[in-house]
Amino acid sequence: MTDAAARVWTRKDLLGLEELSSHEILHLLDTARGFQEISTRSIKKAPALRGKVVLNLFFEPSTRTKASFSLAAQRLSADLVDVVKEASSAVKGESLVDTGRNLEAMGVDIVVIRHQQAGAPALLARNLDACVINAGDGTHEHPTQGLLDIFTMREKFGDLRGKKIALVGDITHSRVARSNIWGLQKLGAEVGLIGPKTLVPSAFKELGVAIHYHLDEVIDHYDVFNILRIQTERQQKGMFPSVREYHYLYGIDQTRVSRMKPGVLIMHPGPINRGVEISQEVADGENSVILRQVTNGLAVRMAALVLTQSAKEVNVG
Ligand code: CP
Repeated sequence: MTDAAARVWTRKDLLGLEELSSHEILHLLDTARGFQEISTRSIKKAPALRGKVVLNLFFEPSTRTKASFSLAAQRLSADLVDVVKEASSAVKGESLVDTGRNLEAMGVDIVVIRHQQAGAPALLARNLDACVINAGDGTHEHPTQGLLDIFTMREKFGDLRGKKIALVGDITHSRVARSNIWGLQKLGAEVGLIGPKTLVPSAFKELGVAIHYHLDEVIDHYDVFNILRIQTERQQKGMFPSVREYHYLYGIDQTRVSRMKPGVLIMHPGPINRGVEISQEVADGENSVILRQVTNGLAVRMAALVLTQSAKEVNVG
């Protein structure tokens, strides 16, 4: 990393897209583009984090994010430690800050944390010298998911200024939605939210987004449909009458895709409820970039690890 690059990114932590400037977002995405090539090598390794220790501290389940951060750290030659809540001393009552301080005392350089409480990564960042990267906190933010979504949109469209991006479904419980909204608006995109009133509160209008309760009325307006999972684990009862009715009103199936703009991007952060928010044929269809999102996530997370660690070293040095 050059001194000039390190000066653009001065944060030891990546907590959310709300606090980032468009300049910082674009710098991280450009850095990620440089890391894409490493994953195509026969020996998928670069020395950028050799001698550093990355900790995955996951208090909620994850397939994609945890594996992606693990691979990203390993490809950068870091040592990796995994701690999951169920097998940690958190179940004996240890506080999050004590857990973090004890792991830092073993020489951890970067903590990647997923936590059910919004603000948990920020709390840890204030109390540790180590870098802290938010891998999803409650319903607040999931910045690397937002960044990899934006990275994937830019692969297709380039500049996102004026592009129309729809987020469909369970907005109220979605940290992915919040990170997408902040990030996309900073890059000049127009963001619309689509779903039932119970899952798309009108308060979101204050963020400058459009809100639509009838998907079919705006089906040909958007360039991207980023479809969000119905989060049954975070919902109280009665958010919508039935899964069947939800699919009828808001499910993205092939009939609906055929009425969208030609070349529309169909995205989903995963995990997918096939047959609920998205049909089988659309999830695996030609407009879908769902697995491309996952692939791009690796490069984005490599960039996040390297930029935060470099900033910490510059700040300390
Ligand atoms: N998109 C996402 O965060 O997936 P995981 O919950 O599997 O990490």
